[in-house]
Amino acid sequence: MHDDRHPIYDNVIGIDLGASYTKVSRRTGLRACQYSDVDTDILALHEQWVIPSICVQRRSGSHEWLFGVDAAEATLADGDVLFANWKADLFSDARSEYVQSIHVAAKFFKWLREMMEASGIDLGEYTTRLCLPMLPVMEETASILAQCMDREGWAFPRNILKVSEPAANIIGIFTDGKNCVSSRGIPHYEQCYGSSNIINQMTRLRPITELDTEKFVTVGVLDIGSFTTDVAALRFNLSGIVHPEDPGIERIDAESWPCGITANLDDVILPALSEANGFDLSTLKFSLRETAKERLYAEKRWTLGVDRRVDFGGASDQKVIKDTLQQFCHAVFNRCESFFTRMRPEILFMTGGGAAIPLVRQTLADGIERMGIRVRPFPDGIMAAPGKQSDWVSWMVSQLTLNRFATALGGASVVLDATAPPSRSDTTEGGRPAAELSSGVVRQSCRCQGGNKDCCFCGGSGFYVKR
Ligand SMILES: Nc1ncnc2c1ncn2[C@@H]1O[C@H](COP(=O)(O)OP(=O)(O)OP(=O)(O)O)[C@@H](O)[C@H]1O
Ligand SMILES: [Mg+2]
Repeated sequence: MHDDRHPIYDNVIGIDLGASYTKVSRRTGLRACQYSDVDTDILALHEQWVIPSICVQRRSGSHEWLFGVDAAEATLADGDVLFANWKADLFSDARSEYVQSIHVAAKFFKWLREMMEASGIDLGEYTTRLCLPMLPVMEETASILAQCMDREGWAFPRNILKVSEPAANIIGIFTDGKNCVSSRGIPHYEQCYGSSNIINQMTRLRPITELDTEKFVTVGVLDIGSFTTDVAALRFNLSGIVHPEDPGIERIDAESWPCGITANLDDVILPALSEANGFDLSTLKFSLRETAKERLYAEKRWTLGVDRRVDFGGASDQKVIKDTLQQFCHAVFNRCESFFTRMRPEILFMTGGGAAIPLVRQTLADGIERMGIRVRPFPDGIMAAPGKQSDWVSWMVSQLTLNRFATALGGASVVLDATAPPSRSDTTEGGRPAAELSSGVVRQSCRCQGGNKDCCFCGGSGFYVKR
């Protein structure tokens, strides 16, 4: 008999709340006790697969709050306020930015709920899983966001659970959003990974025999995002994966650092180029600035306007860009070096917007090679790749699936039902004391009644602080 309360029977919404782009996934739960092959889908809201997270608050006229494509295409009028990096501010030590970002987050989740309901989704039917970076204040941020969502109509009657962003990412990559559940309600993990070429090839490369009960392989993901760089490593027991009742995951390790494109690249490069060329790039609407960044960071030229042309990307601009990109690579590399030395992945995937920048991708690939991370030659198409180890690394990195949706897919995956991601709060003293946040703090019994360490409200303690 299956247990109806087991999370594999839940409908799940996965939210990858990105500093630049939010991605939302949906996994339909199981209703019947029968073989089921339930994929996790990415939801398009207003025909947008990636939802710009930026916010514009109109101060003139309607005083409306704009999100998504409306905010991305908005030209700012006098007095309008742009919140370009409010996710990062949720983790900020600066109190005014922090408080402001909570306000913006509440507006964002209201907007997102309305968008989802307009797409015919009854959120009352879903558990929501929110992917958050593994920063020391993750627990507190999760609780604050859950309270914002609760107030904006998300929670009732279901829970809001937190998920480690890097852990969700690596699971999303290796399951590709696939969830297979066999009869009797037992997840069929072999088929969860069934569409993953990498796992297939590893399994074929190291065939499991009767004598081999354990075959381990470690894979890694490096996700360079707008706000954080996230790393994750997954140690598989391949003989587990081929066993239907065992997810095969021996260990997940994950870390995040506040080292990302917005603070480390944009906030350095864009003001310097603005000053040098006499045009303030921060006044561009979001969508146009994205186009400019894509060209300039790829060391190409970019011309603004028809009537008043401004040419960016000349020799002195290029020097600023190149120097900053290289410094950024050093910062990323220094941060993840010890992680990869410890975990020694055999294969590494690089994702996130940072991996789309050619110089960043190449420089980091070279650094990874110098770390001596071995990249295993695979059969089939992969055997056709170059033979030298340096070429292997470059080849692997160039093949890396820039799968922008992996975190959202993995966050809703059935694999996470069995494989609880590590919780940083267990090992850190992180988090601001509640009393410091505001007066009128109330200790509240949690609806989950405790016991669920992934609960965004209480983290399993049964109580949370209400403001
Ligand atoms: N080809 C490119 N060239 C330059 N920048 C790029 C390119 N592609 C994406 N970016 C930048 O990458 C960022 C978006 O990356 P991503 O979607 O990984 O971030 P995010 O998930 O929103 O952030 P985080 O996970 O840190 O919260 C944006 O700043 C975007 O401008
Ligand atoms: Mg991201």
